[in-house]
Amino acid sequence: MESLSYKDLLKKVQTNLAPSLAEDWPELPAVCSQGVYLYTEDGREYLDFTSGVGVTNVGHNHPKVLDAAIEQMKKFSHSAVGITLHEPLLRLTEMLPTVMPEGMDMFFFGNSGSEAVEGAIKMARYVSGRQGIIAFTGSFHGRSYGAISVTSVKAKYRNHYEPFLPGVYFADYAYPYRCPLGSAPQDAVDWALSSVEKVFNHYIPPAEVAAMIVEPIQGEGGYIIPPVEFLKELRRMCDQHGILFIFDEVQSGFGRTGEMFAAQAFNVRPDIMAIAKGIANGFPLGATVSSRTLMSRWTAGAHGTTFGGNPVACAAAIAVQRVIAEENLLENARQMGALFLEGLKKLQAAHSFIGESRGLGLMLAMEIVHPDGSKAPDPEKAMQILQRMLEGGLLAYMAGLVGQVIRFIPPLIVNEEQIHRALEILEVSMSDD
Ligand SMILES: Cc1ncc(COP(=O)(O)O)c(C=O)c1O
Repeated sequence: MESLSYKDLLKKVQTNLAPSLAEDWPELPAVCSQGVYLYTEDGREYLDFTSGVGVTNVGHNHPKVLDAAIEQMKKFSHSAVGITLHEPLLRLTEMLPTVMPEGMDMFFFGNSGSEAVEGAIKMARYVSGRQGIIAFTGSFHGRSYGAISVTSVKAKYRNHYEPFLPGVYFADYAYPYRCPLGSAPQDAVDWALSSVEKVFNHYIPPAEVAAMIVEPIQGEGGYIIPPVEFLKELRRMCDQHGILFIFDEVQSGFGRTGEMFAAQAFNVRPDIMAIAKGIANGFPLGATVSSRTLMSRWTAGAHGTTFGGNPVACAAAIAVQRVIAEENLLENARQMGALFLEGLKKLQAAHSFIGESRGLGLMLAMEIVHPDGSKAPDPEKAMQILQRMLEGGLLAYMAGLVGQVIRFIPPLIVNEEQIHRALEILEVSMSDD
């Protein structure tokens, strides 16, 4: 059979792919990737500031991760954990507690972020004997039914899928840039907490709430960094009412914020975590994590998996943890993040259509608005900038309610020269000509 070029193949089979996925952007004919770069069929080089949406944190094709995966593949590439508990999973289980937030030392391995969230919700209900779940406006937790039931970033993700999981209530997230009370951090905290109180007062008493699930930094919602008091106060409320606090760190985890997890960056303790994406640098793996005290109450047979904790993915994940430590990538994420944010702030000072530049570590974003002081989102302008960045060789991704946020998620190995190059491309992409 004749081997078609990427573009011809795309033309031929695209109509055989579910259109539910089709609005994604862009259709980049990447044929290979290395480190911070993607390469296309026609030989173009792109700085990849998406990391496959926060996945390839140690860079594409990191040789140590590849070697670990290949070595494991030569031994075996599948072993259902219900049948044999294989060594890579055991070694990963031994290693992860050394990088997880304190006390997070028991794991249920799945294949994805959504599965990790499903596990967190199921476990919270199971061990608490309660049903209610409080989630937050603007959240994204995945596409499976439990995960979409606690997701509210866009109505179109939920449209036509009702009924959802019962017992889910939404409170407002602390979003300083768009808080109706004002833009001071405390305004956003007050607004969000009063909305949680409203849920307790009007919809479900706290004694019936099993868990609150929160992204410590909202991802799809627009890389929204809440004031730390928001998370601390939620922690306090959870303690007061015996509610389990779930951190979805699928996107913010594994060094993205300059700490291994946002829970450590904010110094707030979750009871349960959902982790995935960067854990194995692209090999499908995720986990629901908790303390041994709590997770031990999730008894035998209550949850299970065929593919979860795949040996090749586990071997890759072990290598990822080593690379993060050996290459001092948390420190690099902090330094490069600060440098990039400084550049984004300079651009903000020069362009009134940048409503806000924000970031923690290498989880960075710019919110694009109409420059009339109204803060009205301008997704068309954001898309135009993204398109021009792409033409200039820089790949980033959109986020936010209507796609008004441009998010930058470079691999944690990014260096100063690449940050400067990205800022140059960005500057040109924003110029008037
Ligand atoms: C915070 C968060 N949770 C969960 C998910 C779902 O992960 P997955 O696509 O691996 O199911 C995502 C994916 O973007 C995410 O950003």
